[in-house]
Amino acid sequence: MIFITGDIHGTIEIGKRLNTRNFPKQRELTKKDYVIVTGDFGLIWKLDAEDQYWLKWLKKQKNFTTLFIDGNHENFDLLEKYPTEFWNGGKIHKINDSVFHMTRGQVFNIDGLKFFTFGGAASHDKEYRVEGKSWWRREMPSQEEYEEGLKNLVNNSWAVDYVLTHTCSIEILNWLNNHYSFNYEEDIMHNYFQTIQNQLKYNRWFFGHFHYDINLINNNRLIYKDIIELPV
Ligand SMILES: [Fe+2]
Repeated sequence: MIFITGDIHGTIEIGKRLNTRNFPKQRELTKKDYVIVTGDFGLIWKLDAEDQYWLKWLKKQKNFTTLFIDGNHENFDLLEKYPTEFWNGGKIHKINDSVFHMTRGQVFNIDGLKFFTFGGAASHDKEYRVEGKSWWRREMPSQEEYEEGLKNLVNNSWAVDYVLTHTCSIEILNWLNNHYSFNYEEDIMHNYFQTIQNQLKYNRWFFGHFHYDINLINNNRLIYKDIIELPV
């Protein structure tokens, strides 16, 4: 089984979101089942005793394998130190035996379902953060990552089952701004996702970042605290 949830923000929400009371289905699962976090995983933040405790909790005490894409609130200096490995058709950083980071621009095949993954987003609270301590330029993708994403979509004939991103297309951003009186600014990443949304065949597009649970147009699903079982 595969489940999707939204931003965890490391030690702040991990214990609340994935405890057995909040997520009782985990009793039926094994390490061949997956919980995927759509960014702001946040447990590779300081790698201090607290981060290590929760990473071990996921590995030893949870009956599932944890997968995550990166959000904007990740420590990219630490995250990128993990060795890159190939897993189920895409590149991951293996954090431990049951916690994997799905890198940008990949297509993974999990239990017969294809997932296009593309983490990262611009922080809305950059001015309150310190570079290298609580904010990293690498929250935004490199040219190579954008290109690799397109190349992998071409290799998959522009068809996947699910898209997993942290932020969203321009159309979705505008929808959120209009319906929720937000004032989020467009950037190159929203543009990139718009190009993809216009061409790609997908069942559902899950994204996090905005901290709401909302079904949107064009099969987009903003996800935060919900834990959704696939297929959906
Ligand atoms: Fe977040």
